[in-house]
Amino acid sequence: MRLNQCHNFHDFRTLAQKRLPSPIFNYIDGAADDETTYRHNTEAFERCDLVPNVLTGVEDIDMSVTVMGQKLDMPIYCSPTALQRLFHHDGELAVAAAADKFGTMFGVSSLGTTSIAEVRKKFKNPQVYQFYFHKDRGLNKAMMESAKEAGVDVMMLTVDSITGGNRERDLRTGFSIPFRLTLGGLVQFAIKPMWGINYVTHESFKLPQLDEHVDMSGGAISIGKYFTEMLDPSMTWDDVAEMVKLWDGQFCLKGIMSVEDAKKAVDIGCTGIILSNHGGRQLDGSRSPFDQLAEIVDAVGDKIDVIMDSGIQRGTHVLKALSLGAKAVGGGRFYLFPLAAAGQPGVERALMLMRAEIERGMKLMGCSSVDQLSRSILRFR
Ligand code: LAC
Repeated sequence: MRLNQCHNFHDFRTLAQKRLPSPIFNYIDGAADDETTYRHNTEAFERCDLVPNVLTGVEDIDMSVTVMGQKLDMPIYCSPTALQRLFHHDGELAVAAAADKFGTMFGVSSLGTTSIAEVRKKFKNPQVYQFYFHKDRGLNKAMMESAKEAGVDVMMLTVDSITGGNRERDLRTGFSIPFRLTLGGLVQFAIKPMWGINYVTHESFKLPQLDEHVDMSGGAISIGKYFTEMLDPSMTWDDVAEMVKLWDGQFCLKGIMSVEDAKKAVDIGCTGIILSNHGGRQLDGSRSPFDQLAEIVDAVGDKIDVIMDSGIQRGTHVLKALSLGAKAVGGGRFYLFPLAAAGQPGVERALMLMRAEIERGMKLMGCSSVDQLSRSILRFR
């Protein structure tokens, strides 16, 4: 299979699986416990039907949205995700370049493999910085300062990862950071030679957001252990309120699911919330953000930008979320498999297909702009 034979999420996933050593593929593809939430995230969209209106004149489609003060040419953005240079040697720079071409937002993670300052210098499209709240308060302050200095547009604090999700695939494969070639890894290296050659001939693996502050020389740790040992489980709303004040700009919380928490986010001055269960990677059994969206939009949608991620694979999923009241949606695996499959051209192809699906869907729904997407065009089974 080649890139131009990839027509959807599943095709990119298949190609990524062919290219990646299995511990890395399973890190992206896997989720927590029995992976029920991972499956439900996408299934949730299937319980909701679109009811089109016809003959409305849909020659020109405008799918742009404004979210947390950022104008995006398309309503889906590339969520910040960890360790991208493990998936493809160009990592974050490939994703940023593709997102820039399509006029959408992308993000760099605290566990990113390229520095936020470097990415910011090269690309001017809206950029978010995904933040983990570490036990080391000095580290938190320093990370916020470097993000400010770099000029990122939106601060995104992840609040659903205070301890590691139980990712059994990673336990089985021994996936860890910094990525080390174990004996099993060497076998993978032999059977996926292109990945291996690229891995050793490009810039060595780094976590520039953390390297200065965290001593990783103690050996490799699993992502779950990183969350559990490094992140601060005592974090409260007061700590976040302080961060919001200190940041003094666009600030969103990723991983809000309850109405009570959505209201608290408004109270402490956040400008956005992202309904998310971390793509099913943290709390298995957690409700899907799409199922929870209407309740949250009804409670706080006029006070804060409500966004969702987790499970989005199709343009019609985006349209359903926007019709329920989301201002925009984010996605991780939808661009990570393409990144692993083919680097920047892969991400560009994923965004091109997604844009075409959204445009086609809007035309078939009789909607020429995003503000015409409303609950009147949805029916739940
Ligand atoms: C994950 C973290 C790092 O889901 O976001 O693996």
